Amino acid sequence: MYNTNKKLYGDVTLPGDKSISHRLLMVGALINDRSYIYNLSNSNDVLTTIKCLRACNVKIKFIDDKKIKIHGGNLQSPAENLDCQNSGTTVRLLTGLLAGQGISANFSGDGSLLNRPMKRIIEPLKKMNLKINSNNNYLPLTIEKSSLNPINYKTVTKSAKVKSALLFASLGCDQYSTISYDLETRDHTEKLLKYLHCDISIGDQISIRKSRINKGFSLTVPGDISSAGFLIAGAILLPESKIRINNVLYNETRLKFIYLLKKMNANISIEDISSSKFEKSCTIVASYSPNLQSVQINSKCAIGVIDEIPILSIIATQCDGKTVFSGLEELKYKESDRAMLIYENLKNMGADISYSDDNIVIKGKNNLHNTCIIHGNDHRMAMSFEILHLLLNNKMSHQYNDIISISFPDFYSAIESILQ
Ligand code: S3P
Repeated sequence: MYNTNKKLYGDVTLPGDKSISHRLLMVGALINDRSYIYNLSNSNDVLTTIKCLRACNVKIKFIDDKKIKIHGGNLQSPAENLDCQNSGTTVRLLTGLLAGQGISANFSGDGSLLNRPMKRIIEPLKKMNLKINSNNNYLPLTIEKSSLNPINYKTVTKSAKVKSALLFASLGCDQYSTISYDLETRDHTEKLLKYLHCDISIGDQISIRKSRINKGFSLTVPGDISSAGFLIAGAILLPESKIRINNVLYNETRLKFIYLLKKMNANISIEDISSSKFEKSCTIVASYSPNLQSVQINSKCAIGVIDEIPILSIIATQCDGKTVFSGLEELKYKESDRAMLIYENLKNMGADISYSDDNIVIKGKNNLHNTCIIHGNDHRMAMSFEILHLLLNNKMSHQYNDIISISFPDFYSAIESILQ
């Protein structure tokens, strides 16, 4: 349809998964021993977590660009505000972690984070008896050393961050807390705590109580599967492409994007699954897929691909038929109002798209044209539209280094390394 003469071809490996990197750092901060993390995410969000933990007296040293050493176990209340910048994961998980350890702290963030709802963690943490103050359920937020009670809680918001904040806070209670959660949300926190022999049992609900981890760990973070999503999209959309992404995360709660693409008739396969007891890795092979078909993404399915919806919307513009995304409410509360920006940008580019009541419908195969993208300073929006640029223009705009560094600073160089 487009005069594309570019393709993606070859092998690529990616920096570590961002969600897992945050969690390894935070759990390392609890352990009074040396831990080593290999292939940590080099994203700004993870650097933000490092800065905040250092302010709480956690010793973190970069040994080289692939290895860091962390020594925790002696958390102290930070002298300054913890500036969580753009990172919702940092503020939500760290609030739970520090609350559980009896640490007082003030949290702030950048303009985007100031607009993201915190009620989802404030309400259950208050139920645990945490003294917590906020600006009407938004940042800035202050927590005070409190004696926490266990909680029996069913998460209202379908969010891995809320679940994780409560799991971390529960590490401060002698009695068991029980947390019922949505099975579609990513499971890295509970998996890691189990791997490190905490007192946790995982089923339809998670029971957890105070646990001491005495021995440091040495763990490698598999490549970021959400970052991989952009390269995979490029490969399936650009004729003659074929890429292999090595050592990328293999975790059922994060693979829904791949399963969905298969359903859409994309040429994609998962190979060489590792046998790690921590988080597994695999190789993903993706190639040009000329016969993409539309799908229905209901609200349950949307939770499992929550970070991939922007790039899925780009893919949907190239599918036969109508792709329906339902139940997108959570997308409004991300780094930008993603649902609105997907709609506005694709509409401006000539797509057949409608948006109402948290549902987006895209009828594929309209001829799209270039416009100025409204990215909302949101990394996943910027990267998604760079992939569309590649398809429309044979090149990316290369304008968004600062924005994409939030999750994937190597985005441009990774693509250039396989662009032919
Ligand atoms: C994340 C959980 C998801 C996801 C975010 C990272 C995590 O957010 O969108 O990018 O690391 O737990 P929610 O839990 O707010 O849905």
